[in-house]
Amino acid sequence: MVKGLIDRYRDWLDLPRSLTPVTIGEGDTPLVRWDDWGKSRIWLKLEGTNPTGSFKDRGMTVAVSIARHNGSRAVICASTGNTAASSAAFASRAGLASVVVIPEGQVALPKMVQSAVHGAHLIAVRGNFDQALAAVRYAAQQESWLTLVNSVNPWRIRGQETSAYEIVDDLGAPPTLLVLPVGNAGNISAYHKGFVRYAKQAPRFIGVQAQGADPLVQGHWLDQVKTVASAIRIGRPASADTAKAAVSETQGRFLSINDQEILAAQKDLAHGGIFVEPASAAAYGGLKKLSAEEELPAGDIVVILTGMGLKDTETPQQWANLTMTPTTSEHIVTTISQLLNLAEA
Ligand code: F0G
Repeated sequence: MVKGLIDRYRDWLDLPRSLTPVTIGEGDTPLVRWDDWGKSRIWLKLEGTNPTGSFKDRGMTVAVSIARHNGSRAVICASTGNTAASSAAFASRAGLASVVVIPEGQVALPKMVQSAVHGAHLIAVRGNFDQALAAVRYAAQQESWLTLVNSVNPWRIRGQETSAYEIVDDLGAPPTLLVLPVGNAGNISAYHKGFVRYAKQAPRFIGVQAQGADPLVQGHWLDQVKTVASAIRIGRPASADTAKAAVSETQGRFLSINDQEILAAQKDLAHGGIFVEPASAAAYGGLKKLSAEEELPAGDIVVILTGMGLKDTETPQQWANLTMTPTTSEHIVTTISQLLNLAEA
């Protein structure tokens, strides 16, 4: 039987005793040995294998369980898409209503479809994610029956800590280096807290942003944000302070990579059997950039792949070959040999 992450890590989460978990079997995601680069062992944590296809489910099982426990009637979030889909799924599982507020025209269609199938009410605001977040914070302050489930809700962060616990359980100790994409900066903060709580020791953190949406690299807020990685198209990360602490306390760093490097990383991973969305590919691209700039430490390096590839099917069409070769049953063998020869040439 599949256990949700509250059942597995309840002792670490400080939840009310009488709380009944809202779960759809989240967490317990694969840590895949990808490659060895010199003395570094590169592991990929496939967070896209969570039930709604992203790491958000870890925070949402906890935040929505608490919302229902406290008598909330509805949950609300601002989102670049994944938080929306996850909150909608967990709210419907819990019997609560959900409202998702998205930056108009900025969210990949499959994530909107996901939110809609679970019955979420979709609201679009003009502007970017930061305006959407300001709007939902205001709304949740006005109504006591409405719970904000963005990562500014501390229960989201508690839930997301569990990925660090799993990595420690799998490797036997924290890795030397942890690489992950950074948007609103909740997840990097959660991993830092998670390693410190569970292993009393954290890896060096490398927070990767997309050029054009890299306020933590630039050192100031950005009001205009532009990147192919729509999930992390954020100019004013709400958890900037805790993210900066995660990086400075572990002698880590923030770095950013451009759209081309993000797509190249997506292609590299896809050609090794792993299809992730652009924001997640940014982490792998960030590790490649880091390895070109400095010697990687020996030992375990973990790259967090936050969301699965089908979340955004439009972007990879910039590089994937979707040509359909017509044939008939008499000619199929010839067609196949021609195609394979072409591929080898
Ligand atoms: N990767 C993916 C696939 C994401 O969806 C997000 C954030 C991040 C990385 C960055 O995580 O915000 O904690 O630094 N998505 C949010 C959303 C903003 O609305 O789905 P973060």
